[in-house]
Amino acid sequence: MELIRGDNLSKTYNLKLSLTKSIKVKAVENVSISISKNEVFGLVGESGSGKSTLGRLILLMEKPDSGRVFFNGVDLSKAKKDEVKEARRKMQIVFQNPDLSLDPRMKIYDTLKEALECCKYKGNITERIKAVLEEVGLSSETINMFPHHLSGGMKQRVALARAILAEPDFIVLDEPTSALDVSVQAQILNLLIELRKKLNLTYLFISHNLSVVSYVSDRVGVMYLGKLVELGECDEVFNEPLHPYTKLLISSVPTLYMTKKFFTQNHAITAENGEESVSGCRFFKRCPYAKDLCREKEPELVGDRHKVACHFA
Ligand SMILES: Nc1ncnc2c1ncn2[C@@H]1O[C@H](COP(=O)(O)OP(=O)(O)OP(=O)(O)O)[C@@H](O)[C@H]1O
Ligand SMILES: [Mg+2]
Repeated sequence: MELIRGDNLSKTYNLKLSLTKSIKVKAVENVSISISKNEVFGLVGESGSGKSTLGRLILLMEKPDSGRVFFNGVDLSKAKKDEVKEARRKMQIVFQNPDLSLDPRMKIYDTLKEALECCKYKGNITERIKAVLEEVGLSSETINMFPHHLSGGMKQRVALARAILAEPDFIVLDEPTSALDVSVQAQILNLLIELRKKLNLTYLFISHNLSVVSYVSDRVGVMYLGKLVELGECDEVFNEPLHPYTKLLISSVPTLYMTKKFFTQNHAITAENGEESVSGCRFFKRCPYAKDLCREKEPELVGDRHKVACHFA
């Protein structure tokens, strides 16, 4: 059963390069995704492909230029204020860097109390905080500590506790383990899997790390320059990728060597006057299999369970 759906979401940013020059960045263009209850939907793609923007659009943290978000079948663009407020409570986010998301001057207790007060919790606040800390693997003494007393993994557990306190149905996890050491990463990933089962949670799991995504996700979407280019069951997409970009992602290893060409091709930029607007397939310039049709016509995302946006997949 579907919990969350984004329909044809688009978002363009005006990026100021200097006092007089600005460019338009199509961060997300016409993307639709549907996530079922209790599912983990992974979102992969290189930096700047629009993963976080899509997450923010779905959470209503940003207003889309066009498109709609449905939560539990309710169109949030048409819902009443109270309904939207309730949906916002049921949708939480955990960011990559807990140092930026936790206030260094506040004790863990105060940070978590604030989160509980936001959702107008009526019960015993201290008891509830201690119970949730235990749920994320932290002792009750943690409440008296400040963020600087905690390790990176512990801070991320606090960030997770804060999200869980609101009793959400859906959590966007935006690179939740990317700032952590590999051994701590595994602990947090296993905790996320455990919490999903225990609390019936649904995740949108954003990461550029394919092995992390394939470990936690049921289905996966691959983004390239603001577009979803492939989508399907995790095993199928990673074992039998259809899109040349997905194949490249899987075969590539991180490299420090980045050329100017890479950077100029790595943004869905259109000139301010729109003259340079992108036509055809966005992967055209980097695709080893590109033909004339790819330059001329943009491929649609088609298929049944395993979808791909490529003329020659
Ligand atoms: N608030 C903003 N103002 C201007 N441009 C933005 C803004 N947010 C995102 N962008 C641009 O939109 C594009 C997509 O950014 P986004 O952060 O969604 O990518 P991402 O896939 O999450 O990247 P990363 O893996 O680095 O987190 C980028 O080109 C980025 O520079
Ligand atoms: Mg991001």
